[in-house]
Amino acid sequence: MGPSEEELRARLERSGQAHLLRFWGELGAARRDSLRATLAQLDARELGRHCQRAAEASAREQGGPGPGGLRGNWEPIPAQFLGSVRRSDGAALERWEEEGLRQISQDKVAVLLLAGGQGTRLGVPYPKGMYDVGLPSHKTLYQIQAERIRRVQQLAGGRFGTQCTVPWYIMTSEFTLGPTEKFFREHNYFNLEKSNVVLFEQRMLPAVTFDGKAILEEKGKVAMAPDGNGGLYRALVDNKILEDMDRRCIQYIHVYCVDNILVKMADPVFIGFCVSKEADCGAKVVEKAYPTEPVGVVCRVDGVCQVVEYSEITLETAQMRNPDGRLTYSSGNICNHFFTLGFLQAIAEKFEPLLKQHVAIKKVPFVDEEGNLVKPLKPNGIKLEKFVFDVFQFSKHFVAFEVPREDEFSPLKNADTADKDTPTTARRALLSQHYRWAVKAGATFVDANGQRIPEKHSLSGDEEPPVVCEISPLVSYFGEGLETYLKAKNLQSPFLLDEDVAKFVAQHE
Ligand code: UTP
Repeated sequence: MGPSEEELRARLERSGQAHLLRFWGELGAARRDSLRATLAQLDARELGRHCQRAAEASAREQGGPGPGGLRGNWEPIPAQFLGSVRRSDGAALERWEEEGLRQISQDKVAVLLLAGGQGTRLGVPYPKGMYDVGLPSHKTLYQIQAERIRRVQQLAGGRFGTQCTVPWYIMTSEFTLGPTEKFFREHNYFNLEKSNVVLFEQRMLPAVTFDGKAILEEKGKVAMAPDGNGGLYRALVDNKILEDMDRRCIQYIHVYCVDNILVKMADPVFIGFCVSKEADCGAKVVEKAYPTEPVGVVCRVDGVCQVVEYSEITLETAQMRNPDGRLTYSSGNICNHFFTLGFLQAIAEKFEPLLKQHVAIKKVPFVDEEGNLVKPLKPNGIKLEKFVFDVFQFSKHFVAFEVPREDEFSPLKNADTADKDTPTTARRALLSQHYRWAVKAGATFVDANGQRIPEKHSLSGDEEPPVVCEISPLVSYFGEGLETYLKAKNLQSPFLLDEDVAKFVAQHE
C-alpha cells in the first residue's frame, strides 16, 4: 500500500507536478495502484529536482555549444597509452593474448552487456539482442555472443589446463528485461550455466516537457525512459552486482554494447594489453574513417581523458593530421571498455553523482489536458541520460587500444531503409570476416560446376563477399584453428561451418 491520494497530491504539488494526478478520478483501482507505485518510487522531491534539471539542461543546450567547439587544451591519447593491432608486431600481440587468456583461465574476467536501450531506430518491438540479421544460421545477436563466451572459455581453459568461466552480466531495462529473460530461458541459456548469466535492471527516469513538467503518456502512466547506458553505475549498486563480482573473484570487466555484431567478448588481446599496462580503465577504438565522421573521439582535454562528441570538435581540429598522414584525433569510440573491479567500485562509491547528464530531445507521445492521446510531430520532451564512457575522467591509468574496424566493429542501429549500420551492413561485415578467415585458412570456393571462384583478398567490411560463408563462434572465436577444417578444401556457397560439420570433418580426416 503506497501513500494516500491526499499525501501524493500534496507531495506532487510541492514539486510542481500535481498535473500527474489530473485523471486520477477516471482511473480504476489497478491503474491507480500502478501510478501510485511509479510515483512512490520516484520520490516527489527527487522528481521535482529531476524535472527542473532537465528543463535547465535543455535550455542551456539549446543555447548551443557555439561554433568554437569544446574549449581547453586538446591532445590525442599519448603514444605510450595507445595500443594498436595494426601497428604492433606479432610478438607483442601474442604476449597480450597470452596474458588475457591467462586471466580468463583463472576466472578473473567477466563480460558485461549493455542491453537496456530501446532500439528505437531499428524499430522492432523486442530487444535488439533478439534480432536475426539474416545469417545462414539465423543466429541472433544474443546467441552469437553466448557462443563467443563458450569458445573463449574453451580457448583459455585449453591453453592453461583449467575449467574456467566468464560470467555474463546483462544490464536490461523495463523494456528489455522480461523478453530477454524469457528468450534466454527458452534457449536454455545457449548452453551456458544459468548461474553465470546475471540479468539486472537499470533505472528509468521520467521524460519532461521544456517547462519542467513530467509527461503523462497515458492517463495513468508517466512517460519513462531508461537512464542511459551510464545508468550502469547506479544499476551495479542497486542490484549488488559488484558484490557478486567480488564473490566470484572477478578482477577485470569487459563492457560492450548489444548491437556490435563483431564484438570480441572478453577479447584476450585487449584484456592482456590493459592488464600489461596496469590500466584501471581502457577503451577500444577504431580509426576514424574521415574527419567529419559522426563518432565520439577518445582524447585528452586539459589532461583529462574523455570522449569528445563529434559536435564538440571544430572542423579544423577534426582535420588535423600527423606527419604520417593519419588524423591526429582519430580514436573513434566504439563503446567497448575495460574496467578493473576496483575502478568500478570507486565510481559506484564516489564518482557516479558527478557524471554529466546528457540531454536528448525526443518526440514523446502524451495525453493532452482533455485526455486525448497526442503523437507529436515535433520533439516535445527531454530525456536525461548518463553515458557509460563519462567515467574515463576518473581513471588514474587510462589506455586506449585501436583495432581494425572491419574485424571488430559493425553496429546494428537502423532499419534497412537507412544506408548505414543496418541489418544488411552487419550481416555483410560478419560474412566478409568469415570469408577472409576461410581464405586465409586455405579454403577455395567453387561454383555449382566445380569452377573456382576467384578470391577477393582485400575485402573490406562494407563489401559483399563473393560467396556466403559463415563460421560458428563455437568452432572459431577469431579465425583460429580453421586450417583443420578448411585447408585445401573446395567449398560451395553457401557454406556453414558449425559444430556438427567441424566434428564430421575432424572424424573423417
Ligand atoms: P544506443 O545509444 O545506440 O541506443 O545504445 P539504443 O537504445 O540501442 O537505440 P536507439 O537510440 O533507441 O535507436 C548503445 C548501447 O547502450 C545500451 C543499448 O542497449 C546499446 O547496447 N543502452 C542504451 C542501455 O543499456 N541503456 C540505455 O538507457 C541506453
